[in-house]
Amino acid sequence: MKVSNLIYYRCPISGDELELEKSSLIIDGNVREGVLLSKKIGKKYLIKDNCIDFITPEQEIKGAAFARKYYSEIAKTYDENVHITFELYNENELDIRNRMIDLLELKPNYKVLEVSAGTGKDSEIIASRLTKDGGLWLLDISPDMIAYNIVRQKNVDIPIEFVVASACSIPFIDNNFDALYCFAGVGHFPDLPKGLKEMARVVKPGGKVVFCEKNVPEWLRDTEYGKICINNNPMFADPLPLKHIPVEARNLCVRWINGNVHYVFDYTVGVGEPKGNFDLEIPGERGGTFNTRYYGKLEGVTAETKQKAIEAQKLTGKSMHKWLDEIILKEAEKIINKANH
Ligand SMILES: C[S@@+](CC[C@H](N)C(=O)[O-])C[C@H]1O[C@@H](n2cnc3c(N)ncnc32)[C@H](O)[C@@H]1O
Repeated sequence: MKVSNLIYYRCPISGDELELEKSSLIIDGNVREGVLLSKKIGKKYLIKDNCIDFITPEQEIKGAAFARKYYSEIAKTYDENVHITFELYNENELDIRNRMIDLLELKPNYKVLEVSAGTGKDSEIIASRLTKDGGLWLLDISPDMIAYNIVRQKNVDIPIEFVVASACSIPFIDNNFDALYCFAGVGHFPDLPKGLKEMARVVKPGGKVVFCEKNVPEWLRDTEYGKICINNNPMFADPLPLKHIPVEARNLCVRWINGNVHYVFDYTVGVGEPKGNFDLEIPGERGGTFNTRYYGKLEGVTAETKQKAIEAQKLTGKSMHKWLDEIILKEAEKIINKANH
């Protein structure tokens, strides 16, 4: 970890700033070995072999503990076998990975976070698209997967930092990265809504988030092709995480690639929920605006009164909104004025 990057890290449990313990070994502005301290909760995180280990409670809970153990066990053979994920569908691994990374719309000076980076097959491609002015942060819950990633990137000539942490408690400040990428990680998150929220939180407004997971789309679920995939791994039938997409997501696209059995979501991060121009006057008989229609609702009237109101409104030539608004306001003010004098 570069000492100057300390300001971007946060305690994954409390969200507080971290301090570097004085005894840490620093060479050329990089922490070779040391300890990050979260003073408020008295938690220590170890920096060793170019990697920070953020132990979080999620790593102990059921789903995460399983993923951590499983990937640590298969880390050694992961690279030998991962090509199957593409060959099964007659696809070219490099082509698919590049196409997904294209969606990040990277610029050479971007700061990028890869979540669930694993042994680093995508990390390597992302790194090749950045320069020394940019930076790559590689996060995974499994220290063994990250260990292989460290070896893979050892000759890469751009700033890279490695982090063992859960995607559901990302140890970085808000609005920190220009882009975030996650291939085949979200299906393992112990708390999917939290993980997806965290991924949006750490990306700057205007930055892109891209994530991919196995999924047989609805229209293929009753085909033999779809059934064979689902039979092999029930995760192929998990629902799309549409309801857990954060409100900050803008211009979201979802597409199916890699044999049409992997979804890819890509979106641009915005600020809060979208803002509408909801005071815009709507032409026509009904009239009013989106805001008056939503905020201006009053008690209903009888069917007979409504019929008469429509007849009268038509004769005035005003929209129903304008006519009613004027009458009600006038009458309300008359009553209020009378009461006040
Ligand atoms: C199928 S592998 C994908 C690895 C890599 N992205 C690739 O393209 O080869 C899934 C990865 O997700 C990681 N993972 C599982 N649960 C995680 C979590 N809660 N937070 C972060 N990473 C997680 C695993 O350790 C593993 O490295």
